[in-house]
Parts: sequence; C-alpha cells; structure tokens
Amino acid sequence: MDATQVINELVADVQGGLLGTSGGRFFGWVVGGSVPAALAADWLTSTWDQPAALFASGPAIAIIEEVCGQWLKELLGLSPGASFSLVTGCSMAHVTCLAAARNAMLAKHSWDVERKGLSGAPPIRILSNNQRHGSIERTVRLLGIGNDNVVDLPVNRQGHLDSGDLLRGLQEHAGRPTIVLLQAGDINTGVFDPFEELIPIAREHGAWVHIDGAFGLWAAASPKYQHLLNGVEQADSWAVDGHKWLNVPYDCGYAFVADSKAHWASMSHRASYLTHDNEARDQIDWTPEWSHRGRGITTYAAIRQLGKQGVAELIERTCQHAHRLVTRISALQGAGKRAKEGVQGHPRHAL
Ligand SMILES: Cc1ncc(COP(=O)(O)O)c(C=O)c1O
Repeated sequence: MDATQVINELVADVQGGLLGTSGGRFFGWVVGGSVPAALAADWLTSTWDQPAALFASGPAIAIIEEVCGQWLKELLGLSPGASFSLVTGCSMAHVTCLAAARNAMLAKHSWDVERKGLSGAPPIRILSNNQRHGSIERTVRLLGIGNDNVVDLPVNRQGHLDSGDLLRGLQEHAGRPTIVLLQAGDINTGVFDPFEELIPIAREHGAWVHIDGAFGLWAAASPKYQHLLNGVEQADSWAVDGHKWLNVPYDCGYAFVADSKAHWASMSHRASYLTHDNEARDQIDWTPEWSHRGRGITTYAAIRQLGKQGVAELIERTCQHAHRLVTRISALQGAGKRAKEGVQGHPRHAL
C-alpha cells in the first residue's frame, strides 16, 4: 500500500477509539499530556532511530542521556554519585533497582546471584506497607523473589508505615537478606512514608531501602512540597516515571541506584562484537534492555523547556488544581461525609 494511504486510513480507523489522555481534563490516572518540546523530541527520536545501547552506536544520544541523569538527580535531590538508567516506566525501574538490591543483599551472604541464580540462595524478604502499587508484585515475580516473600506491614490512620511496625518486621526477619520498600506518593491517597524516621531504622538492620516514587518523587522539585521527601536521599534506590509528572510521552521511567557497583553487576553486558568505550557511559551496562530507543531525548527537551522553576511550577499548579477539586466537590450538597472528612483530615504526609 501507499504509505500516505496507510496513515490516512489509520487516522480514520482509530476515530472513536482514542481517549483524551493527553488533554488537561483527563483525570483517569496520574499521567498528563506532553510538554510541547518533549512531544517534538519524541518525533525526532523515531526519525533519528538511534540504538541507545552504546556510546559508539550513537554518541549524541549517549551524551544526552548522561546530561539527563545529572539534571534528574539534581531535580530529585539525589546524590550526584548515584548511577541511573532510563527505562520504559516505573515498573522496569523497579526491576532494575531491585535487581541491584538482589545482587547486593545476596553478596552480603556470599552468594553471587548473577552466576548461581536464586536456587539455593537465602530467600530475600521484601517488607512493605500493604498499600504498595501492584507493579511491585510483578517485579518480584520477574526477579524470581516470589510473592510469598513480600511481607505486608500495616499502615496507620494517616496511611503510612509506622516506625514500630517496620522495626517489628525487621526484627522478625533479622539475619535474612531484606529489602524495605517505601512509598513516595501513594497512588490512591498521595501519602508519603516518613523517610527521615524509617530509613535509618532499615539501614541499621542492614536492609536495602527502595523508594517507589513513580509520581511522588517529583515533589522534590518543588520548594513547597519537598519537605515530604525529607530523608529520602538516604535510600539505596529510587524508581520514578518521566511519563507521569514530567509529562514526557509514554515509554519513559528512571531508575537510580546509590551502589553503582551493584547496579553495574546486575545489568552490564559484554560481547566480542560490541565496541565498548572506556571513558563514556554505555547505556547497555545499566539497563535491562539491549536495543532500545533514545529515551533520554524527550526528557532532555522537557527539562530544557520547563527549567528547574518550570518543573516546580508544574508540580505546584497541579497540586493546586487537585486541592480545588477536592475542596469544591466536598462542598457540594450531598457530596457525602467521607469527602468532607478527607479534606479536614488531610494527612500530614500527603501532597
Ligand atoms: C505508585 C506507582 N508505582 C508504580 C507505577 C507503575 O508505573 P509504570 O506504569 O510507569 O510502569 C505506578 C503507575 O501508576 C504508580 O502510580
């Protein structure tokens, strides 16, 4: 078929089958549309079609990614020394971070998981509040940790994990390789776990702390909301999405790992036909994927368009919209007691 005809028919055929997800009035999930520069950069990404695996296979793309890594760590208040990778979304960011955690936690038990696999390894425990996002269950399945090894800890009336419950969980599983999962922005309530209080406890017990910050980690970019993330920088790994609050098109998440050696050990790859660079960063060493698109290009464009202040304004403006919605809906006659209680009892640790 003629290419133009294919596209014309494609556009005609999807009529009525697309949702308005890229519009400002889409309230289904915590995703938005696209920052204009990011949308245009997405078209360029496909047009350039660079394989973003090695510096040698696309030097410009590798360098754009390095710049993005530095900018993102600055915006999110993470250590400049943390390693990072650009992945398809927060789910794969969890996989990347927890693969590094698996390496480091089992290495403490003299077990080389990359070589030996999990069969015969000391079982890894994941302690997490019982409201965690479903992407964690899938991560645990993919990594062979198994859902029976995820230990549910309760949330308090404010919707977050308490230090007493975390301590009890850690003591119960003492001596085992343990990962503590904390939440930066609960999907239903926007609640943040109190990191300053919880992370030192987990670390004292030798646990790896992973943060699910799919959208909430972006609050770090806002002077008004960054207090919600106090202490989060003490964690071991962080997963966050670009296609949520930064508003780049879909297919964009970020993984950050404090222990870059564990990250590298779990992801790196060598082959005789590949030209590795000794000085530049080869993306393949940090991502679960081999071939993939130049995922950093949209992030680079969004951050350049918005700037640090623009990202902060975006976070604060959308929180203001959400607050107005809650306030006005709960003021409606007959809107129900629960909505009103929601406003009055707004949790201290929530957006
Ligand atoms: C808190 C939280 N974690 C993880 C995810 C999974 O992210 P993704 O769909 O980008 O894989 C989401 C998505 O909604 C989320 O809200």
